[in-house]
Amino acid sequence: MSIKEIVCIGAGYVGGPTMSVIAEKCPHINVTVVDLNEDRIKAWQTDDLPIYEPELLDVVKVARGRNLFFSTEIEKNIAKADVVFVSVNTPTKTFGKGAGVAANLEFIGKCARSIRKYAKRDLIVVEKSTLPVRTAEALEKILHSGESDYHFEVLSNPEFLAEGTAINDLQNPDRVLIGGRENETGQKAIADLVEIYSNWVSPEKILTTNTWSSELSKLVANAFLAQRVSSINSISALCEKTEADITEVSKAISMDSRIGAKFLNASVGFGGSCFKKDILNLVYICRHYGLNEVADYWDQVVIMNDYQQTRFVDKIIATMFNTVSDKKITALGFAFKANTGDTRESPAIIIVKQLVEERARVYVSDPKALKQAKHDLDGLDVVLEEDPYEACKGADAVCILTEWQAYKDLDYKKIYANMNKPAFIFDGRNIINPQELYEIGFNVYPIGKAALER
Ligand code: NAI
Repeated sequence: MSIKEIVCIGAGYVGGPTMSVIAEKCPHINVTVVDLNEDRIKAWQTDDLPIYEPELLDVVKVARGRNLFFSTEIEKNIAKADVVFVSVNTPTKTFGKGAGVAANLEFIGKCARSIRKYAKRDLIVVEKSTLPVRTAEALEKILHSGESDYHFEVLSNPEFLAEGTAINDLQNPDRVLIGGRENETGQKAIADLVEIYSNWVSPEKILTTNTWSSELSKLVANAFLAQRVSSINSISALCEKTEADITEVSKAISMDSRIGAKFLNASVGFGGSCFKKDILNLVYICRHYGLNEVADYWDQVVIMNDYQQTRFVDKIIATMFNTVSDKKITALGFAFKANTGDTRESPAIIIVKQLVEERARVYVSDPKALKQAKHDLDGLDVVLEEDPYEACKGADAVCILTEWQAYKDLDYKKIYANMNKPAFIFDGRNIINPQELYEIGFNVYPIGKAALER
């Protein structure tokens, strides 16, 4: 089959950018992204896109109206599709069995039911969302239950993009992973999907596997990445006790080619919508199969991440003479990482909430995430101020929570001059030069290295 019509259900951080790049690279294929959320779809139709991602608007503008469309008409679009990507959210379950650990597959299940109901021909259903291993089996059962006359071939094609670099990751992926059934229809569907990616990805980077390897690989990739962050963060705690310097340790180990350099920056911990939920999901699956030792091993990655956030707040309180009550503390950064407006699971949420609980007067600044921060901190007495200099005026302490380039380039002399003294700076991302700030007059507390205090 030559694919002419692609439909993607879910116009979020993955569906939007992924389909924009497919449309950009495949002008001969129509790509329609559908979503129940009308506001989101409307925003995709304007130049004020619903998500912030560098270079995204340029790509959207190339294809939108040509072969890239955004719509709330799910029925009509499924009816004309050759391939349906499912890219809906798969959050951690908050209720019932598996609450707090298992993935909530409600939205995925609803998509399968819509596809079965509205399809007008055989089609390929692609799992783009991150899903527990063996979800495709459940999808196949839903899709083929009841009265539909059509054949639905389910493929797994997990997405490895990172927010903040999504467009580059999609245009130049390390690899594209496609899993499917080992029978004739499965292999045929895999070939069709390979053909789409072949428009811009070289063959050696397109990896095909069985369905279960593909589904599991996505969970494992996120677990390994998060595990590196927790590993280096665990060592940062030890550095603070021993006068070892985490940046030096990190460099020393990263020059070992077996270890490599990426994901070894100590910080206030990882955030984002995926790492925590995917590890918890992995843990849940392991327990389901009775693999408790394996589950405990991965669980520790999340425990270490929570510890790193609490440790950061404890340090602020202990340093500021055991009370932050009525002290002004400014958080520089609220997004879970630089170059995104996404705050899902951002360490800043926990840190700000804990500081508010200690009755600090908290100010939050961020170049892209304040709209979201307003939502996350709803009901809390927190001031949001985009201008970092204004936000730091009269502060007793500044905490750097997101590694925005703009925060590396700030005029810290000016900030210091307008702060209460003694002035404290807690660098939760290790982006400033501690010695330089100490010389300005700050008491400086990086992660995983000696404090510089007077
Ligand atoms: P998101 O929450 O930004 O977007 C999901 C969209 O799906 C929402 O706009 C929602 O309205 C829509 N939706 C839900 N149910 C629907 C239905 N029945 N019909 C139509 N639309 C529906 O989520 P995001 O971040 O795009 O993630 C999607 C999936 O991709 C998740 O499984 C996630 O784990 C995975 N993923 C996310 C990455 C990221 O960086 N955010 C990276 C790689 C994978």
